[in-house]
Amino acid sequence: MAVSPTLHPFLTAPEIDRLITQLAARISEDYAPRLSDTGALHIIVTLKGALFFAADLIRKLTVPCRVDFVRLSSYGAGTKSSGNVRILKDIETPLAGEHVLIVDEIVDSGRTVDFLVNRLKASRPASVRVCGLLSKPSRREIPVEVHYLGREVEDKFLVGYGLDYGEKYRNLGDICYLES
Ligand code: IMP
Ligand code: MG
Repeated sequence: MAVSPTLHPFLTAPEIDRLITQLAARISEDYAPRLSDTGALHIIVTLKGALFFAADLIRKLTVPCRVDFVRLSSYGAGTKSSGNVRILKDIETPLAGEHVLIVDEIVDSGRTVDFLVNRLKASRPASVRVCGLLSKPSRREIPVEVHYLGREVEDKFLVGYGLDYGEKYRNLGDICYLES
């Protein structure tokens, strides 16, 4: 018989909002003097999980930006990374000379960010930085730099605010941890 998992509150919507306000202020301040050549910050959102985070973050930025999307897969339907990163949907705009900011909702093993940063660098952007809402440092398999981080979290499987478990729970306003 299937047992339904229990959801425990982890970060409430107002707490998430505060983290994002701080991130957006830092990013805006850092990039304001750097965009005179390109005119805009080039944001790459990792689908599907970073959907809500990116939408909220981008609306709080005070610098001009362009937005593109990438969809990578390293997870199957469960809670463990499969280790292989595949491109399911590639970016659509050229990156040469751009200041690129990757927006990801959670950095876990680091494989996704490592893969993406290396791949984007091959297009010769002016810079590439990473913004993550959450990071689980204890799970890191590949060291990656997260230049703008909302919060470190312990090794718990999280859902809500874009984070899913087998495509469920993305639409929760709060972030919760799952206990099965
Ligand atoms: P990484 O490549 O192992 O760093 O995994 C990154 C991606 O795995 C994240 O962007 C999420 O999409 C997914 N992921 C990692 N941890 C969790 C979690 O706790 N809940 C839901 N998805 C997660
Ligand atoms: Mg993701």
